[in-house]
Amino acid sequence: MSELTIFKHFDDLDQESKYLAHKAKDAAHFAHANYSKFCVGAALVLEDGTVVTGANYENASYPLSMCAERVALYAAAAQYPDKRIVKLVVVAKKKGGKDLVPATSCGGCRQVIMEFETNQKKPIALIMQNEDHHWIKASSAADLLPYSFSKQSLDGPGKK
Ligand code: THU
Repeated sequence: MSELTIFKHFDDLDQESKYLAHKAKDAAHFAHANYSKFCVGAALVLEDGTVVTGANYENASYPLSMCAERVALYAAAAQYPDKRIVKLVVVAKKKGGKDLVPATSCGGCRQVIMEFETNQKKPIALIMQNEDHHWIKASSAADLLPYSFSKQSLDGPGKK
């Protein structure tokens, strides 16, 4: 069942999510965000407890830049292709700053997370901080991206 939960305080999150948020914050330290100065970190956990992190990586040719979530997702897929992704936490901070700032995953990343969900046939929980500095937990990226594009669209009507 789909579920969206809001936690007012960081400490209200479960232990695993807090741990991943810390890992994501550490990862944000390695962001290459020279253009936006907006450092994003992502940390995901696999079904066996392995944690994979990512940070946004920008390029002077701006559209070539890559979001932190996708860096983590693609690294996980490349290194642990047979392991299911259970949860992904994303955080952000300004370059040089030490406190977290709100950042919700972009639509492109939600689209990519959804395709991972389809491939692994299980949802991926997504945790991030909204504009009120509250922590949003979605039990599936699908809940955050209605009417998304999918392989089904490519295959045409009636095909699964
Ligand atoms: N960014 C992410 O890494 N993840 C998101 O979900 C949204 C935005 C990055 C991309 C770019 O390097 C910077 O944040 C500013 O947009």
